[in-house]
Amino acid sequence: MFACRVSTNPAGRVSALRGLGQLPTSFSALCTRQPGVRSISTAVHFYQNRQLEEYASKPATRLTLRQLVFFGKSMNEERLIKSANYVRTELPIRIAHRLRDMQALPYVVVTQEGVAKVYELYWTAFDKFRRYPEITTLEENDAFCTFVRGLLNDHKSVIPNLSLGLSLSSPYLLPDRLDTFMRRMLVSRISRRVLAEHHIALTESVKSQGQSSQVQENVGIICTGLQVQDSIERCVRYLRKRPRDIDEDVFSGSLNDAEWSEVIVDGHKDTRFAYIREHLEYIIFELLKNSLRATRQKHPSVRVLPPIRVTVVASDNDVYLRISDQGGGLISPEIKSPSDLFSFSHVRNATRLADARLGALRTLSSSQQGMTATVSEQIGKWQRDSDGDAPAQGVNPHPRIGIGLPMSNIYATYFGGTLELVSLDGYGTDVYVRLPKLGKNLEGIEL
Ligand code: COI
Repeated sequence: MFACRVSTNPAGRVSALRGLGQLPTSFSALCTRQPGVRSISTAVHFYQNRQLEEYASKPATRLTLRQLVFFGKSMNEERLIKSANYVRTELPIRIAHRLRDMQALPYVVVTQEGVAKVYELYWTAFDKFRRYPEITTLEENDAFCTFVRGLLNDHKSVIPNLSLGLSLSSPYLLPDRLDTFMRRMLVSRISRRVLAEHHIALTESVKSQGQSSQVQENVGIICTGLQVQDSIERCVRYLRKRPRDIDEDVFSGSLNDAEWSEVIVDGHKDTRFAYIREHLEYIIFELLKNSLRATRQKHPSVRVLPPIRVTVVASDNDVYLRISDQGGGLISPEIKSPSDLFSFSHVRNATRLADARLGALRTLSSSQQGMTATVSEQIGKWQRDSDGDAPAQGVNPHPRIGIGLPMSNIYATYFGGTLELVSLDGYGTDVYVRLPKLGKNLEGIEL
């Protein structure tokens, strides 16, 4: 067994383990457990970097939502195989960028519970994609989809692991550095899952071509005529049926109307646009959940609770949603500014280091329950569980881990939208979501 010799240069980066001769294939084989170090299983990859350098030096080929739709609209065998090879060659580039980001973290962060696991998952996925042979036939594409589905499944625990590791690292990282790192990890993860799931959905649609006489509303995972009101109502119906998702402490059993704020939808109620339903419904679901919980807690002894109003507006370029509640606003002793709720740093948001939250993250990290299956699997599961009533959002009901708002913000901004919170302290909260409706913005930043 090797001893793990790691030193940190003045910039806080890992800079040791040179000259060890033949290197073992994983960090776990390299390291013994060090006092104060929780779990190390990765770093030899830090020194097998040639392939990684090559991929990390290539820029990601970012796409717009419109490109995803146009390319997927008239699918045939040739285009499907092109799509498969794009995913095969693009994902290792995007993963390589994130592996490089992780390598640049101070060593004390890499050793936190959860971080090593994510690094290992990404390294394995990178290596498998890099070695995957070119796809030339439909049969090979089927095998490729099975391979990608497996990785999507393996990566379900990434978010709880990453949230746990970075929360524990919060004392060692400046808030801006921590938040920038997390944002890039999360945006990039969404982008990779979108490309992978889109390709799988396109493959399924090619297979079912001719079997359905219905008008095709979906192109891959994009719903070309997504009805905003419909999505809001699905979220409301689902929350009504599952009050424990709103607040475990306050509700038990089914909600009756007296315990529940009415959700009123107004504005341009017939708005439709091309978007990923899973993303829109994730945002609406999380925001409504917060509003319902806050309103209930603010008015504990009121028989008829103040309503929550969702205003939908479509302009030439954007779709807007404003969700207004009377839940008392956002400012608390722990939160000084609404945007601190997006932060993963305990300096900005003290709840990040709360024991209950860390405990819930630990449970989720090890349970493999994870955060997101493929879109089609998720919809299938909801249909079985709740007669198709559930929203297409990617989070299984779970204890409060404080990820809903930052993730909603990241989903909203992924294709160039915005999410802003305005607290009317002591009265309520207005959340403004803007989503570009023409699909012309490139995905994310620095993928
Ligand atoms: C992720 O979910 O983190 C991924 O990178 C998925 C990809 C390997 C298909």
